[in-house]
Order: sequence, then C-alpha cells, then structure tokens
Amino acid sequence: MKFLKKKVAEAVYKGLADIAPGASVTENEIIANLAYPPDDKMGDLALPCFKFAKELKMAPPVIASKLAENFVCDGIKSAEVAGGYLNLKIDRAKLCGHIYESTVKADKPFGASEQGKGKTVVLDYSSPNVAKPFHIGHLGTTVIGHALKKMFSFAGYNCIGVNHLGDWGTQFGKLTVAYRKWGSKEAVEQKGIDELVALYVKFHTEAEADPALNDEARAAFTALEHGDPEITALWRWFIDISIAEYKKTYKQLDIEFDYYTGESFYTDKMPAVVEELKEKNLLTLDDGASIVDLEAYGMPPCLILKRDGSTLYPTRDIAAAIYRKNTFDFDKCIYVTSAGQCLHFAQWFKVLELMGRDWYKDLVHVPYGTVSLNGSKLATRTGNVVLLKDLFAEAIDKAAKIMAEKNPELAGRVDVAESVGVGAVVFYYLSSNRMRDINFVLEDALNFDGNTGPYAQYTYARTCQILHKAGVYEPSGFEPNDDEFALAKTLSLFPETFDSALAEYEPSIITRYILQLCADYNRFYHNCPVLTAETEQLKAQRLALTESTNKVLAQALELICVRHPEKI
Ligand code: ARG
Repeated sequence: MKFLKKKVAEAVYKGLADIAPGASVTENEIIANLAYPPDDKMGDLALPCFKFAKELKMAPPVIASKLAENFVCDGIKSAEVAGGYLNLKIDRAKLCGHIYESTVKADKPFGASEQGKGKTVVLDYSSPNVAKPFHIGHLGTTVIGHALKKMFSFAGYNCIGVNHLGDWGTQFGKLTVAYRKWGSKEAVEQKGIDELVALYVKFHTEAEADPALNDEARAAFTALEHGDPEITALWRWFIDISIAEYKKTYKQLDIEFDYYTGESFYTDKMPAVVEELKEKNLLTLDDGASIVDLEAYGMPPCLILKRDGSTLYPTRDIAAAIYRKNTFDFDKCIYVTSAGQCLHFAQWFKVLELMGRDWYKDLVHVPYGTVSLNGSKLATRTGNVVLLKDLFAEAIDKAAKIMAEKNPELAGRVDVAESVGVGAVVFYYLSSNRMRDINFVLEDALNFDGNTGPYAQYTYARTCQILHKAGVYEPSGFEPNDDEFALAKTLSLFPETFDSALAEYEPSIITRYILQLCADYNRFYHNCPVLTAETEQLKAQRLALTESTNKVLAQALELICVRHPEKI
C-alpha cells in the first residue's frame, strides 16, 4: 500500500494547496496520517483531517469535504466524507494489477529497498560461550540476529555477521584443569562439545568439595594469558571442536558468519583502550580494580581491569567496537543478547561516549526475553539445560513422524522433515514480540493446524502445487471479489510491514504478517476455485493472486530464516 499512500499523499498535497495556499503540510506528514479504517465499509484508506486544522485554520470536516470535492487520484475509486475523515475506496482491479506487476513481473523483489545503499551494518549475534552449553537460551540471539541480518540486507545494507564467541576467560582455566585431571583425547574427539561441557560441569561439582581446584584453574588461565604453548594448544583445540559443532546447528538454520572473531581476538587490542581511558582521566581505582565511575548517569561502575590486571567482558566489548569501527566503518553495529545484559551494554556504550567517540550513537542493543521449555526454566550452572541441537533433533524427529502419516510418498522426506522441524521452532520463537518471555511447547510449534511454521510452509507448498499444475497463464484484467480483494490488500501491505519490522528490530512483525497472509490465502482458496474457475479470465486472475502470494510468502519466510520446500 506504500505506493498508493504516496499517490494519495500527492493528491491530498495538491488539494490542500488549492484549499489553503501557503499552508505547510508535507507529503510525509500526510502519509504518516493515512490510516486503515477498522471496518472496510468506511473505506480502504482514511485521512483524518484533525491534525491539519490548526495549520489550515479550518474545521476538520470542512477540510475533508473540500478535499473530497474534486479528489482525483490514480488507484482510488471514490472519496467520501465522514466527520473529519476523508474516506477513500481503492480501485480494486488496479490494486490487483499493481500487485501482480510488482510481485511477479518486477525485476526487484517486492518490498526490497535501497535505503541502506552504501551503508554497512555489523551484526553481533549467537556468540555462544565455548565450553558452556549452546542451549535454547541462545535461540533468541541466533535467530533474531540472523533474521535482522537478512532484513538489513533486504533493505540494501551491506551486512557483516560476527560471532563474538566467548572464547576467553577463566572458564578455560577450569576446562584445562578438568581435562588434565579427568579427560582424554579420545573422549573429546568422540563426544566433542558434550564431553567439554561434562568436564566443565564436573569441575564445578569437584571444586565445591576441593576449593583449591579454583586456584589451579586461575593459574592455568594466567598461563594461557602468558602464552603457555601447551595450554594455548589445548585452548585452540577446544575452540575448534566447539565451532565445528556450532556449525552443524548453523547449517540447519542456513546461517553463515563472516567472522568468528571471539573475545580472545581483542587481547592485543585492549592495552590501547586502557591507555586511552587513563589519558582521558576516566579510570578510577576501586579496591585495586580499575573502573569507570558512572554514578552521574545512574549506573553502577563499568569494570575495566580486575585487581590482578586482567581484562573483563566490558573491556573486550569496548576494544571490539573500536576495532569494528576502524575496520568496517559501520553505520550501525547491532548486538543481540538476552535482556539480562541490558545494563552491560548501557554501561559500555556510555564509556565510549565519555571517550569522545561520537559514533557510540550507532551502537544498538537489541534485547529479548527468556525462554522456558514446557514451563520449566533453564539452569546453566548445573548443566541441566536443553541443548539447541537436541531441541532441533527432537523437532525434526516429530516432524518426520507427522509427515510419514500425512504424506508417506513424499520424495526427499528427510530434508523436508529438517526444514519443517527446524522451521517450526524458528517460526514459533519469532511469533512473539522479542521482549516477551516464551514458553516453548514443541507440540504447539509443530501443529499443522495452528498458527505455526508448518502451517505457513504448507500454505506455501499449496501455492507451488497449484502453479505447477496450471503451467503458463496470462492475466487479462482483474475483477476481484471480496476474498480476492482482501488477499490483494494484504499482499500490498508487505513493504510497509517490512519497514516497521526493520525500524523496530522486530522480526515477529513479519511472522505475524505471514500468518495473516496465509489466512487470507486459505480463505480465498476455499471460496474461489482456482484451477476449476468458471472462465479462463477468472482462472488467470486467481493464478496471478496465487503467484503473488507464492512470491511474497517465500520472501517473508526467508527473512525470518524459515525454509519453504515446494512439497510437504
Ligand atoms: N557470549 C555472550 C553470552 O553468551 C554473548 C556475547 C554478546 N556479544 C557481545 N559483543 N557482548 O552471554
């Protein structure tokens, strides 16, 4: 509807200039005021004239009726007045024609833009902590992060995905000690990350009885910091094993990172940060530790160096941000993490501001709420967590069982089961606003009849099958009925829906749009026979709407990282 809103705004703009020459209302203000009436008996688009009353020195109903008098706009059939509103009815045939042209015939994807041309966005997401489990708490950062990457690319930005692995810190001391005491090369090679996590968990249990283990772990980490070759080799090995396993999960999600530059990558870049903080008189000593006092900004201090001089999570983030600015000259750097880290980001963004880096304004933290599974919360410390790979495996397994019943003949069933199982999890997760706490119930996510990923994929597959059976067709004019027009209207909303999802960093806006589009398409499909339509003209019109739906659904599903097989 963006294109039509623009045309309406041009017409209104001209109208206002005639009614009140010299009044300064811009086209953008008019666009911002255009609304969708709740009941389409009141029109398809409405312009409330209240906001213009002051500028025009006229009562809103007067403005509306003056505008209505000679209202001419390509794509609008009629203009009526109701109180202070100018109610517009869309030319249905033109809308359908426009949708067909811009979704099927156009050479650029419908809704894509060049807003970000020449601009770079760095996205920091997923970023698991090596040696700790990659669990369902990471689902948020992984899928919101990747959806945002796709969305920014769709808006024309050059996007760089960075996995800021937690590959540095005292946990490596613990892991080294645990490995040396209880581990073996064979076990790690065989069981990979699970063995590392098991060793890490064992360390914690044993250390409760024998606190001296903690001193050993600290010493091992210090040795790593000083480049001890044996520990460094172990550390590198732990990381390589972990990355190889993360990549299996990423592959199921079609995620690829441009960089796996974890926290350790910034080790040699931190002294300069500490120096700069000192020079700018921002560092204070606090019980031996170095901090930046943020009391004046209502926040606790930002910790830069521990008493033993080792760096901390915020120090590494500051160094990483400066490095990324210097290397990529980003226009935006986006961090997707759980809402539990809001303070951390607010603190070090402030430190960069105090350091005089005015681009701190381009740093964006995108938080999200907690996840529980079947009502129970996660407990990372005890290792009592659901791993992301296990969640996906279970979803794939369940999807395969459902499909074996529904469509036992389907070719390539294994791949399709993966797409449906993983897609179900992602879709379910991205259905709610990101700040909402989510309770995961796999059965609900996989319900083919609910508002789920499989339902959307099924609708997409339905459009593919119809188009496949129909073969070549050529629409010759449109005469849409109510169901067809409702579908066309929803299709036309895709670009502006995408715009608000991008502006709010909220992929769920796209997910909910997909559900609306599927509902409209399925109602249309139910009420309007496509392949057996009464006339050829009607058949072509319905095929055109089917193909537009097919294109928009595929695009929208891609943006939220859900695959769309042609057959289910
Ligand atoms: N590894 C961290 C965690 O799992 C997330 C890192 C987020 N990115 C960052 N630049 N701090 O909590």
